[in-house]
Amino acid sequence: MSKVEVVILAAGQGTRMNSNLPKVLHEVGGRPLLQHVIDTAVRLESSRICVVYGHGGDKVIESLKHNQVSWVEQKEQLGTGHAVEQALPYLGSEATVLILYGDVPLTKKDTLQSLIAASEKSGIALLTVKLKDPTGYGRIVRDNRGQIKRIVEEKDADELTRLLPEGNSGMLALKASLLYRWINKLENNNAQGEFYLTDIIAMAVADGIVVESVISADEDEVLGVNDRRQQSHLEKVYQQRVANTLLMQGVTLINRDTLNVKGMVRAGKDVIIDMGVTLEGNVFLGDNIKIGANCILKNVEIGDGTEILPMSIIENAKIGMNCTVGPFARIRPDTMLMDGARVGNFVEVKKSVIGEGSKVNHLSYIGDTDMGRNVNIGAGTITCNYDGANKHKTTIGDNAFIGSDSQLVAPVTIGEDATIGAGSTISKDAPNGKLSLTRAKQETISGWKRPKKDN
Ligand code: UD1
Ligand code: CA
Repeated sequence: MSKVEVVILAAGQGTRMNSNLPKVLHEVGGRPLLQHVIDTAVRLESSRICVVYGHGGDKVIESLKHNQVSWVEQKEQLGTGHAVEQALPYLGSEATVLILYGDVPLTKKDTLQSLIAASEKSGIALLTVKLKDPTGYGRIVRDNRGQIKRIVEEKDADELTRLLPEGNSGMLALKASLLYRWINKLENNNAQGEFYLTDIIAMAVADGIVVESVISADEDEVLGVNDRRQQSHLEKVYQQRVANTLLMQGVTLINRDTLNVKGMVRAGKDVIIDMGVTLEGNVFLGDNIKIGANCILKNVEIGDGTEILPMSIIENAKIGMNCTVGPFARIRPDTMLMDGARVGNFVEVKKSVIGEGSKVNHLSYIGDTDMGRNVNIGAGTITCNYDGANKHKTTIGDNAFIGSDSQLVAPVTIGEDATIGAGSTISKDAPNGKLSLTRAKQETISGWKRPKKDN
C-alpha cells in the first residue's frame, strides 16, 4: 500500500446543534467528534493528518492541540472542494489522500482500509451506502454496467435522481496526483453556489478513469452529526459497540443498555457490571470483580476479587485485590487501597493510603492519611487535615484501633497497636501499644428532673 495522507474536513458551522461550542467539539462516548476521526486516522498509520478548520477554529485547536496534525484554515466555507484545496500545500504528490469528515465519528478502520485498497486499482474509490431514506445525501449515479458516473447533490437532483437509494458518504480515497489534476477545475455553478468535491467524480469518468467503490453495510458508520438527535443516536451506537466488545471479552453486563463508557476500559475475566455504571478515562479491571449499580469510576485500577458496592464514586485511585468499597463510598484522587482493605458506607477518602486489611467501615472522612495494616477506624472518625490555611498529614501505625467518633487533628501520628478511646479529639501523637483518650469524666446528677412543658 502506498503512503496515506488524511484530510479531515471540519470547517462547517454546525448551526443545527444550537450551541456556542463548535460542532466538532461536541462529544460521543466522552470524546469530541473530531477526536474520534483523528484517532481513526492515527490507527490507519497515515503519514500525515491535515485538519481543515474554520468556524470556532481557536477553540477547536485549543481543545485538540495535543494531536499531531497540521491545522489548515479555510477562511470562508465555499464548499467541500474548496476545503480540500486549502490542504493541498500540505500534501505530498505521491501519496494516496483519504478524505474524512470531522463530524462523522464512527467510521470503522477496516472499512477505510478497504477503501484505500480499492483506490489502488484505478486511483480513486468512493465510500457509499445504501439507504432506506437517502434524504440529504448526494446520490450515486451509475451506468447500466453498474459503474459510477457522477454524484448529484440532493439540492441539484431531479425527482428521479432523488429516488436513487445509494448515497455518497463523502469519504473517498484517491491519488494526490489526480486530486491536483481536478481540483482547480471545480466550479460553483450549482444550487448551493459551492465548490463541490463530489464533482471530481464526473471529471474522473470524463478522463476515462473507473471510479471504484466500497459500499458500507452499516449506515451508522457513515452518519454525521448535524443536530443533537443524531448525536444522541450515535452515542447509543457507540455504547452498544463498547458493550459488545466487553461482553465478548467475558464481562457480564446486567443491563447493557445502561452502561456508559467515556474512555478506555480493560477488563479481566468474570467481571460483573450492574446497571447504570459509568466508566470514564482509563479503567483497568482485574478478574472476578463486581461493580454494583450506579457506580462512577474514573481513571481507576481495581485488583482481582474486589467488590465495589452500589452508588460509589471513585476517581484517580488504585484499589487492590479483594477489597470492598461502598455502598455510597467516595474515593477521591490519589488514594490507594491495599489488598483486603474495606471502605464502607458514607466514607470519603482523599489522597490517602488505606493499608492491607484495614477497615474504614462507616461515616468517616480520611484525608492526607498514611494508614498501616489491619487498622480499624471506628464509625464517624474524622482526620482534621485542614487548619484553615494548610493541609497536614495523619499517620496511623499497623494494628491501631480508633474508637468511634474521634477526631485526629493533623499533623498527628497514631502509633502501632495504639488504641484511641471513642469520642476523643487527638491533637498530640498517641504512643504505640497504649490507650489514649480525651474525654470528660462521666457524672450522674442526682435529683435532676426533665423540664416539663408549660401548659
Ligand atoms: C456532503 C457531500 C454529499 C454527501 C454528504 C454526506 C459534497 C458537495 N457533498 O454534503 O455528497 O452525501 O456530505 O454527509 O461534498 N466542510 C468544510 N468546508 C466547507 C464545507 C464543508 O470543511 O466549505 C466540511 C463540513 O464541516 C463537514 C463536511 O465538510 O464536515 C461535509 O459538509 P456538509 O456541508 O455537511 O456537506 P453536505 O452538504 O452534507
Ligand atoms: Ca452543505
